[in-house]
Amino acid sequence: MLVSYEWAMTDLVYLSIAIDGKIAVVTINRQDKLNALNLAVIKEIEQVFIGLSEDDDVRGIILTGEGKKAFVAGADIGELADLNRQTGRVQSKRGQRVFSLIENFSKPVVAAINGYALGGGLELALSCHLRVASRTARFGFPEVSLGIMPGFGGTVRLSRVIGLGRAIEMTLTGDMIGADKAENFGLVSAVFGSDDFLSDSKDFLGRIIRHSPGAIQKALRSLYFAQDTRTVEALVMENDLFGQLSGSEDMREGISAFLEKRKPVFKGK
Ligand code: COA
Repeated sequence: MLVSYEWAMTDLVYLSIAIDGKIAVVTINRQDKLNALNLAVIKEIEQVFIGLSEDDDVRGIILTGEGKKAFVAGADIGELADLNRQTGRVQSKRGQRVFSLIENFSKPVVAAINGYALGGGLELALSCHLRVASRTARFGFPEVSLGIMPGFGGTVRLSRVIGLGRAIEMTLTGDMIGADKAENFGLVSAVFGSDDFLSDSKDFLGRIIRHSPGAIQKALRSLYFAQDTRTVEALVMENDLFGQLSGSEDMREGISAFLEKRKPVFKGK
Protein backbone atom coordinates (compact mmCIF):
# COMPACT_ATOMS: atom_id res chain seq x y z
CA MET A 1 0.00 0.00 0.00
CA LEU A 2 1.32 3.43 -0.87
CA VAL A 3 0.85 5.69 2.12
CA SER A 4 0.83 9.45 1.90
CA TYR A 5 2.64 11.24 4.70
CA GLU A 6 0.77 14.50 4.26
CA TRP A 7 -0.75 14.01 7.71
CA ALA A 8 2.76 13.87 9.11
CA MET A 9 3.55 17.30 7.69
CA THR A 10 0.51 18.88 9.29
CA ASP A 11 -0.27 16.91 12.46
CA LEU A 12 3.20 16.40 13.87
CA VAL A 13 4.85 19.02 16.04
CA TYR A 14 7.79 17.15 17.53
CA LEU A 15 8.44 14.33 15.09
CA SER A 16 9.38 14.25 11.43
CA ILE A 17 9.44 11.39 8.96
CA ALA A 18 11.83 11.26 6.01
CA ILE A 19 11.49 8.39 3.57
CA ASP A 20 14.76 7.31 1.94
CA GLY A 21 14.16 4.35 -0.35
CA LYS A 22 12.81 1.59 1.86
CA ILE A 23 13.89 3.26 5.09
CA ALA A 24 11.83 5.69 7.15
CA VAL A 25 13.92 7.99 9.33
CA VAL A 26 11.84 9.19 12.28
CA THR A 27 13.41 12.14 14.10
CA ILE A 28 12.39 13.51 17.48
CA ASN A 29 12.79 17.24 17.29
CA ARG A 30 12.63 18.98 20.61
CA GLN A 31 16.21 20.12 20.69
CA ASP A 32 15.77 22.92 23.21
CA LYS A 33 14.86 20.28 25.81
CA LEU A 34 17.35 17.69 24.54
CA ASN A 35 14.44 15.86 22.86
CA ALA A 36 12.90 14.98 26.25
CA LEU A 37 9.75 12.90 26.05
CA ASN A 38 6.72 14.89 27.02
CA LEU A 39 3.24 13.46 26.60
CA ALA A 40 2.85 14.98 23.15
CA VAL A 41 6.09 13.39 21.90
CA ILE A 42 4.99 9.98 23.18
CA LYS A 43 1.62 10.35 21.45
CA GLU A 44 3.31 11.33 18.20
CA ILE A 45 5.63 8.31 18.39
CA GLU A 46 2.53 6.12 18.65
CA GLN A 47 0.84 7.91 15.74
CA VAL A 48 3.92 7.64 13.52
CA PHE A 49 4.52 3.95 14.16
CA ILE A 50 0.86 3.14 13.49
CA GLY A 51 1.15 5.08 10.21
CA LEU A 52 4.38 3.35 9.21
CA SER A 53 2.95 -0.09 9.92
CA GLU A 54 0.52 0.46 7.05
CA ASP A 55 3.19 1.31 4.49
CA ASP A 56 4.40 -1.83 2.71
CA ASP A 57 7.06 0.16 0.87
CA VAL A 58 8.84 0.93 4.13
CA ARG A 59 10.96 -2.04 5.20
CA GLY A 60 12.77 -0.61 8.21
CA ILE A 61 12.78 2.35 10.58
CA ILE A 62 15.55 4.49 12.03
CA LEU A 63 14.56 6.37 15.15
CA THR A 64 16.84 9.24 16.12
CA GLY A 65 16.97 12.62 17.84
CA GLU A 66 17.57 15.99 16.22
CA GLY A 67 21.01 17.50 16.68
CA LYS A 68 24.30 16.06 17.89
CA LYS A 69 23.74 16.47 21.61
CA ALA A 70 20.89 14.13 22.47
CA PHE A 71 18.97 11.14 21.25
CA VAL A 72 16.48 11.68 24.10
CA ALA A 73 17.53 12.99 27.55
CA GLY A 74 14.65 11.22 29.29
CA ALA A 75 11.05 11.71 30.18
CA ASP A 76 10.13 15.37 30.56
CA ILE A 77 11.11 16.17 34.13
CA GLY A 78 8.73 19.14 34.20
CA GLU A 79 5.78 16.84 33.58
CA LEU A 80 7.02 14.31 36.14
CA ALA A 81 6.85 16.97 38.83
CA ASP A 82 3.04 16.85 38.95
CA LEU A 83 2.62 13.09 39.15
CA ASN A 84 0.84 11.36 42.01
CA ARG A 85 0.35 7.64 42.61
CA GLN A 86 -2.55 7.38 40.23
CA THR A 87 -1.29 9.59 37.40
CA GLY A 88 2.16 8.04 37.73
CA ARG A 89 0.68 4.63 36.97
CA VAL A 90 -1.26 6.02 34.01
CA GLN A 91 1.83 7.72 32.60
CA SER A 92 3.97 4.63 33.03
CA LYS A 93 1.33 2.46 31.36
CA ARG A 94 1.03 4.83 28.42
CA GLY A 95 4.79 4.82 27.86
CA GLN A 96 4.94 1.05 28.23
CA ARG A 97 2.16 0.64 25.66
CA VAL A 98 3.81 2.85 23.07
CA PHE A 99 7.25 1.30 23.60
CA SER A 100 5.76 -2.19 23.31
CA LEU A 101 4.24 -1.12 20.00
CA ILE A 102 7.80 -0.45 18.81
CA GLU A 103 9.14 -3.73 20.22
CA ASN A 104 6.32 -5.65 18.51
CA PHE A 105 6.69 -3.71 15.26
CA SER A 106 6.65 -5.94 12.20
CA LYS A 107 9.65 -4.23 10.58
CA PRO A 108 13.11 -3.81 12.08
CA VAL A 109 13.56 -0.64 14.12
CA VAL A 110 17.06 0.73 14.80
CA ALA A 111 17.66 3.44 17.39
CA ALA A 112 20.39 5.73 16.06
CA ILE A 113 21.71 7.22 19.30
CA ASN A 114 23.45 10.48 18.53
CA GLY A 115 24.07 11.81 22.05
CA TYR A 116 22.43 11.42 25.46
CA ALA A 117 20.12 8.41 25.84
CA LEU A 118 19.02 8.82 29.44
CA GLY A 119 16.07 7.51 31.43
CA GLY A 120 13.08 7.27 29.10
CA GLY A 121 15.46 7.86 26.19
CA LEU A 122 17.38 4.71 27.01
CA GLU A 123 14.07 2.92 27.56
CA LEU A 124 12.95 4.05 24.12
CA ALA A 125 16.20 2.81 22.59
CA LEU A 126 15.77 -0.52 24.37
CA SER A 127 12.32 -0.96 22.87
CA CYS A 128 13.91 -0.76 19.40
CA HIS A 129 15.20 -4.03 17.99
CA LEU A 130 18.75 -2.75 17.54
CA ARG A 131 20.82 0.24 18.59
CA VAL A 132 23.78 2.01 17.00
CA ALA A 133 25.59 4.96 18.58
CA SER A 134 27.74 7.94 17.75
CA ARG A 135 31.11 8.11 19.54
CA THR A 136 29.81 10.86 21.81
CA ALA A 137 26.66 8.99 22.91
CA ARG A 138 26.08 8.61 26.66
CA PHE A 139 23.73 6.12 28.26
CA GLY A 140 22.21 5.96 31.74
CA PHE A 141 19.25 5.51 34.02
CA PRO A 142 19.45 8.58 36.32
CA GLU A 143 15.90 8.06 37.66
CA VAL A 144 16.97 7.05 41.17
CA SER A 145 18.63 10.45 41.53
CA LEU A 146 15.13 11.95 41.06
CA GLY A 147 13.54 9.58 43.58
CA ILE A 148 11.87 7.45 40.91
CA MET A 149 12.80 4.45 38.77
CA PRO A 150 12.51 3.57 35.08
CA GLY A 151 8.82 3.07 34.29
CA PHE A 152 8.62 2.64 30.51
CA GLY A 153 9.89 -0.95 30.43
CA GLY A 154 13.53 -0.15 31.27
CA THR A 155 13.94 -2.46 34.25
CA VAL A 156 12.48 -5.27 32.14
CA ARG A 157 14.43 -4.73 28.92
CA LEU A 158 17.87 -3.56 30.08
CA SER A 159 18.81 -6.84 31.74
CA ARG A 160 17.70 -8.80 28.68
CA VAL A 161 20.17 -6.87 26.58
CA ILE A 162 23.18 -6.46 28.88
CA GLY A 163 22.56 -9.03 31.66
CA LEU A 164 21.17 -8.59 35.14
CA GLY A 165 24.39 -7.64 36.95
CA ARG A 166 25.19 -4.76 34.62
CA ALA A 167 21.54 -3.68 34.53
CA ILE A 168 21.40 -3.53 38.33
CA GLU A 169 24.63 -1.53 38.41
CA MET A 170 23.43 1.00 35.82
CA THR A 171 19.98 1.35 37.40
CA LEU A 172 21.14 1.71 41.00
CA THR A 173 24.19 3.92 40.48
CA GLY A 174 22.54 6.15 37.89
CA ASP A 175 26.01 6.51 36.33
CA MET A 176 26.36 7.15 32.62
CA ILE A 177 28.43 4.98 30.31
CA GLY A 178 29.97 6.00 26.99
CA ALA A 179 29.62 4.48 23.54
CA ASP A 180 32.61 2.14 23.77
CA LYS A 181 31.42 0.60 27.01
CA ALA A 182 27.90 0.35 25.60
CA GLU A 183 29.27 -1.54 22.62
CA ASN A 184 31.30 -3.74 24.92
CA PHE A 185 28.12 -4.49 26.94
CA GLY A 186 26.20 -5.37 23.76
CA LEU A 187 23.89 -2.42 24.38
CA VAL A 188 24.74 -1.08 20.92
CA SER A 189 25.71 -3.09 17.86
CA ALA A 190 28.04 -0.51 16.33
CA VAL A 191 29.64 2.88 17.03
CA PHE A 192 30.03 5.38 14.19
CA GLY A 193 31.70 8.78 13.87
CA SER A 194 29.35 11.72 14.05
CA ASP A 195 29.98 13.15 10.56
CA ASP A 196 28.33 10.32 8.60
CA PHE A 197 26.31 9.03 11.50
CA LEU A 198 22.91 8.92 9.81
CA SER A 199 24.17 7.43 6.58
CA ASP A 200 26.21 4.82 8.49
CA SER A 201 23.07 4.00 10.49
CA LYS A 202 21.09 3.60 7.27
CA ASP A 203 23.79 1.31 5.85
CA PHE A 204 23.54 -0.76 9.01
CA LEU A 205 19.77 -1.12 8.61
CA GLY A 206 20.28 -1.69 4.87
CA ARG A 207 22.18 -4.90 5.67
CA ILE A 208 19.02 -6.18 7.37
CA ILE A 209 16.30 -5.02 5.01
CA ARG A 210 17.98 -6.51 1.93
CA HIS A 211 16.68 -9.83 3.30
CA SER A 212 13.14 -11.19 3.07
CA PRO A 213 10.75 -8.99 5.12
CA GLY A 214 8.67 -12.03 6.09
CA ALA A 215 11.75 -13.88 7.31
CA ILE A 216 12.89 -10.84 9.32
CA GLN A 217 9.44 -10.37 10.85
CA LYS A 218 9.02 -13.99 11.86
CA ALA A 219 12.57 -14.33 13.18
CA LEU A 220 12.00 -11.26 15.37
CA ARG A 221 8.73 -12.71 16.61
CA SER A 222 10.35 -15.98 17.55
CA LEU A 223 13.30 -14.29 19.27
CA TYR A 224 11.03 -12.11 21.43
CA PHE A 225 8.49 -14.86 22.11
CA ALA A 226 11.30 -17.02 23.45
CA GLN A 227 12.14 -14.29 26.00
CA ASP A 228 8.74 -14.60 27.61
CA THR A 229 8.05 -18.28 27.60
CA ARG A 230 9.38 -21.73 28.39
CA THR A 231 11.70 -23.45 25.93
CA VAL A 232 9.17 -26.09 24.99
CA GLU A 233 6.57 -23.49 23.98
CA ALA A 234 9.14 -21.30 22.26
CA LEU A 235 10.20 -24.25 20.12
CA VAL A 236 6.56 -24.84 19.10
CA MET A 237 6.33 -21.18 18.05
CA GLU A 238 9.61 -21.38 16.13
CA ASN A 239 8.40 -24.52 14.39
CA ASP A 240 5.14 -22.84 13.39
CA LEU A 241 6.85 -19.70 12.09
CA PHE A 242 9.41 -21.72 10.15
CA GLY A 243 6.54 -23.67 8.60
CA GLN A 244 4.82 -20.44 7.57
CA LEU A 245 7.94 -19.32 5.70
CA SER A 246 8.56 -22.67 4.06
CA GLY A 247 7.35 -22.69 0.48
CA SER A 248 6.81 -18.92 0.43
CA GLU A 249 7.67 -16.97 -2.71
CA ASP A 250 10.52 -15.29 -0.86
CA MET A 251 11.95 -18.66 0.18
CA ARG A 252 11.86 -19.89 -3.41
CA GLU A 253 13.48 -16.67 -4.59
CA GLY A 254 16.21 -16.80 -1.91
CA ILE A 255 17.12 -20.37 -2.72
CA SER A 256 16.94 -19.90 -6.52
CA ALA A 257 19.13 -16.81 -6.26
CA PHE A 258 21.73 -18.75 -4.26
CA LEU A 259 21.77 -21.62 -6.77
CA GLU A 260 21.87 -19.22 -9.72
CA LYS A 261 24.65 -17.17 -8.08
CA ARG A 262 22.71 -13.90 -8.17
CA LYS A 263 21.25 -11.50 -5.62
CA PRO A 264 17.70 -12.29 -4.50
CA VAL A 265 14.83 -9.88 -5.08
CA PHE A 266 12.41 -10.35 -2.22
CA LYS A 267 8.81 -9.26 -2.51
CA GLY A 268 7.64 -9.96 1.01
CA LYS A 269 5.36 -12.79 -0.11
N1 COA B 1 13.23 16.84 30.85
C1 COA B 1 12.99 18.14 30.64
N2 COA B 1 13.92 19.02 30.26
C2 COA B 1 15.17 18.54 30.07
C3 COA B 1 15.50 17.20 30.26
C4 COA B 1 14.48 16.33 30.67
N3 COA B 1 14.69 15.02 30.88
N4 COA B 1 16.82 17.05 30.01
C5 COA B 1 17.28 18.26 29.65
N5 COA B 1 16.29 19.17 29.69
C6 COA B 1 16.37 20.60 29.37
C7 COA B 1 17.09 21.39 30.44
O1 COA B 1 16.21 21.69 31.51
C8 COA B 1 17.50 22.61 29.64
O2 COA B 1 16.36 23.42 29.48
P1 COA B 1 16.48 25.04 29.70
O3 COA B 1 17.49 25.48 28.69
O4 COA B 1 15.10 25.53 29.43
O5 COA B 1 16.96 25.22 31.09
C9 COA B 1 17.84 22.03 28.29
O6 COA B 1 17.15 20.78 28.21
C10 COA B 1 19.31 21.77 28.09
O7 COA B 1 19.76 20.95 29.14
P2 COA B 1 20.99 21.34 30.11
O8 COA B 1 20.78 20.63 31.39
O9 COA B 1 21.16 22.81 30.16
O10 COA B 1 22.21 20.70 29.29
P3 COA B 1 23.60 20.21 29.89
O11 COA B 1 24.49 19.98 28.73
O12 COA B 1 24.07 21.12 30.97
O13 COA B 1 23.27 18.79 30.58
C11 COA B 1 22.22 16.61 30.76
C12 COA B 1 22.83 17.71 29.84
C13 COA B 1 21.62 15.54 29.87
C14 COA B 1 23.35 16.00 31.63
C15 COA B 1 21.16 17.27 31.68
O14 COA B 1 20.27 18.00 30.86
C16 COA B 1 20.34 16.27 32.47
O15 COA B 1 20.83 15.74 33.46
N6 COA B 1 19.09 16.05 32.05
C17 COA B 1 18.16 15.21 32.77
C18 COA B 1 18.48 13.76 32.52
C19 COA B 1 17.53 12.88 33.33
O16 COA B 1 17.56 12.86 34.55
N7 COA B 1 16.71 12.11 32.61
C20 COA B 1 15.82 11.15 33.20
C21 COA B 1 14.48 11.71 33.43
S1 COA B 1 13.44 10.45 34.11
